[in-house]
Amino acid sequence: MYDGDIASVVISEDRIRARTIELAAELAQRYQPAPGKDPEEDLLLVGVLKGAMMFMTDLARALPIPTQMEFMAVSSYGSSTSSSGVGRILKDLDRDIADRDVLIVEDIIDSGLTLSWLVRNLEARNPRSLEICTLLRKPDAISMQVEVSHVGFDIPNDFVVGYGLEYDERYRDLPYIGLLDPKVYC
Ligand code: PRP
Ligand code: MN
Ligand code: MG
Repeated sequence: MYDGDIASVVISEDRIRARTIELAAELAQRYQPAPGKDPEEDLLLVGVLKGAMMFMTDLARALPIPTQMEFMAVSSYGSSTSSSGVGRILKDLDRDIADRDVLIVEDIIDSGLTLSWLVRNLEARNPRSLEICTLLRKPDAISMQVEVSHVGFDIPNDFVVGYGLEYDERYRDLPYIGLLDPKVYC
């Protein structure tokens, strides 16, 4: 539907779905609910707007355990001169996460700046636990000081879009991850 803008399919809709089910099983194992538990003990998914929205909603539906959802929007203006990834909160969580099991849900970790900043920000709010689940991870993220417990796919350093990922706010609506044709941004 975007004519020739997508050079190839990198991860098909079927592969995303299959991997999401695997991740959901892994997470259900990790966050086994105790019988008769308090709703405050439900796993709290924190989706990072806007990129994570597709993965977040599909992951939540694939998870066989109760979850609650929160969203955050951050702008990272990490410059090449600073590795601190200083961020700004555009939309904060609606509630307190103290003593909660929190899982940050991301579409992609590229430089890792967004997530390393976000982890430090959320850690300061004293969650019971804080882990990360990302659909995609690029090689540069390896240098990041943050442990990522749940990764869908490790991908090469190519410009990918779709399934939440954009270029100039377009292509988020594609149901698969595609390689953006360089003619679009050159
Ligand atoms: C993208 C992506 C991740 C982040 C990864 O979000 O969705 O959140 O960049 O990059 P990093 O690891 O180098 O920090 P973006 O800030 O473009 O906002 P969006 O989710 O609204 O597209
Ligand atoms: Mn994002
Ligand atoms: Mg973006």
